[in-house]
Amino acid sequence: MNKIKNTFYVTTPLYYVNDKPHIGSAYTNISADILARFHRIKGEKVFFLTGTDEHGEKIFKAAEEKGKNPKEFLDELIPFFTEAWKKLNISYDYFIRTTDLMHEKAVIKFFKKIYENGDIYLGEYEGHYCVPCETYYTKAQLKEEKFCFECGKETQIMREESYFFKLSKYEQALIGYIESADVVMPETRKNEILNFIKQGLTDLSISRTSIKWGIPVPLNKNHVIYVWFDALLNYITAIGYGSNSKQFKSIWPADVHLMGKEIVRFHAVIWPAMLLSAGMPLPKKVFGHGWLTVEGQKMSKSKGNVIDPVEVSEKYSVDALRYFLMREIPFGSDGDYSEKALVQRINSELADSLGNLLNRSIVMIEKYFDGKIPKAVNISKQDKELRDLTLKNAEETGKLIDELQLNKALALIWEIINASNKYINDSKPWELAKKEEKEKLANVLYTLSESLRVSSILLYPFMPETAIKIQKQLGINSMKFEETLKWNQIKEGTKTGQPEILFKKIE
Ligand code: MSP
Repeated sequence: MNKIKNTFYVTTPLYYVNDKPHIGSAYTNISADILARFHRIKGEKVFFLTGTDEHGEKIFKAAEEKGKNPKEFLDELIPFFTEAWKKLNISYDYFIRTTDLMHEKAVIKFFKKIYENGDIYLGEYEGHYCVPCETYYTKAQLKEEKFCFECGKETQIMREESYFFKLSKYEQALIGYIESADVVMPETRKNEILNFIKQGLTDLSISRTSIKWGIPVPLNKNHVIYVWFDALLNYITAIGYGSNSKQFKSIWPADVHLMGKEIVRFHAVIWPAMLLSAGMPLPKKVFGHGWLTVEGQKMSKSKGNVIDPVEVSEKYSVDALRYFLMREIPFGSDGDYSEKALVQRINSELADSLGNLLNRSIVMIEKYFDGKIPKAVNISKQDKELRDLTLKNAEETGKLIDELQLNKALALIWEIINASNKYINDSKPWELAKKEEKEKLANVLYTLSESLRVSSILLYPFMPETAIKIQKQLGINSMKFEETLKWNQIKEGTKTGQPEILFKKIE
């Protein structure tokens, strides 16, 4: 099956639709977008999936409170997601809703398949159920044996007839899968998951009789399928499982499932076990990023500190927000969002370092060479140093993005930008102009144009609008990663565009 896979496949979790997207959900989607764009500029075929998780008790209750049927309630909320993603330049290829008929049919097909394989049986379940989180917990997993650690709400003891999935059967296979390679990342998450599995897995209750809003169990209409079992299957139903097997085979398995750390367990234990049961290939990577706090505080509606990413992007620009989130927080660790830190980075890194570098370069090309990028000949040691650093860092940046070390990748791009600024200050092109040292001046401005060209391509996955603006000012238009590994790509005489400020400084 692997032989015909020809697509880089990246996914985000499916968001619950009880509220509009906040900065935490934007964080996951921006990181996924970066990977998708990076692989596209590497010339790969990419499938980037996001969507919404629409079944379960929470939705049913929220709709009821508004006097609406669940589907009608959901339909009104979906545009908050699609619009937010559009504004944040999230270039997904497909948006799946778990209420899509195609998904529902494919979930039923999958359920039947693993039932026929002997991995589903009828039993009775009793447990501490957290309604907001739609999860059963054991006593040991609860605060004071009662309260949910995730949302803090009191859990309820529920007993019901339920279909079970033989999760325990896959314990050894899961350990092998996770230990064999860097599937679960970062390392801390991998260790957590391995410890969890090694403590012993119990079979998983995958149907409910107490809940009405969900996909009915094919063999017994009194049951609906557990919302996580239904939602996890989106990763295969969206790409054609049950509807388009040719497409499915060209995309599956996922190259990266991205998510926040609290749901890695679902993706690194339950999900691969489901796939093993169906005899399907397993995801290559499950990456759990950290959680964002807001000015040191957990984000919550009750605290009134929920940050709307669309508002931030309207105030400071989409790219500033994308840049900030990816630069500020080591990808995989927890981190903090604050407006003050955002403004600082905009002023120093985006407006001063990057913006001024571009502006000074374009203005000088205009002034000294009539807006035409000059040719470089007999380049100096200094020119070569900037060239070598740029090319070396470009290669390294690509590796870091592949390893999902996104903040480190940005740091390397800024090394190029900072080195370029230092190079301007050291080589003093304005003095070369005064002294009429035309050849040296041409070398400096060509070298700067090339380092800006390389930087623009490297920046594209992170800040697509900015990258395009840089190229427009340089008079070029080519976003191929392989071209970051080559020098002398800009043709002599290329007409530069109108110099424009990339990022305004904020007072
Ligand atoms: N519906 C499930 C996922 C099913 S996937 C088959 C779910 N949804 S969620 O809306 O609660 O969370 C979606 C994602 O948003 C998770 O990856 C979660 O980690 C992320 N975040 C929610 N709040 C966050 C922060 N404050 N910070 C970073 N990410 C956080 O779980």
